[in-house]
Amino acid sequence: MKEYLNEKKIKERVEILGEAITKAYKNQNELTILCVLKGSFIFLADLVREIELDLSIEFIDVSSYVGMSRSELVLNKDINFNVKNKNILIVEDIIDSGNTINFLFKYINDKKPKSLKIATLFFKPEAYNFNMKIDWIGFNISNEFIVGYGLDLNEIHRNKKSIYILEDE
Ligand code: IMP
Ligand code: MG
Repeated sequence: MKEYLNEKKIKERVEILGEAITKAYKNQNELTILCVLKGSFIFLADLVREIELDLSIEFIDVSSYVGMSRSELVLNKDINFNVKNKNILIVEDIIDSGNTINFLFKYINDKKPKSLKIATLFFKPEAYNFNMKIDWIGFNISNEFIVGYGLDLNEIHRNKKSIYILEDE
């Protein structure tokens, strides 16, 4: 396991994302952040503290990975708030094939939000299978499996402060 990004680099980037998001929504009277569990919880906690706006925070839980391989999407915890006419910003830890975000985008969009945007800390352009544009990306990364800062392998490593690359066993 080797360190890929340290705390300082992550923090600097999260600050920039927070500033950009603040600017984008500053003329709106409402913002709802939708955190995709579990991987995004640490990114969410840091990001929302860099957004200088009144906002609400909601959670949805979908999972798609078993170990280091993609599997079927499972909706583990649904939302229980009214999406209609809200400005929804989906916060993801990482977009890989794009299956999860594509599913979520459609799922939320069907509930008629006023606007729907996406912020992800990591994006794997080589693995992405869709055309849908991602509004805010923290870091583009190559096709490697990373852990730490919320990201796991079989639920372990989420509490690590830095991001690490895991090599295939
Ligand atoms: P996608 O549906 O293929 O885009 O995968 C997205 C989800 O898979 C993310 O929300 C993560 O939970 C998980 N995932 C994808 N790549 C990684 C990785 O490199 N490390 C840890 N989790 C990952
Ligand atoms: Mg996830």
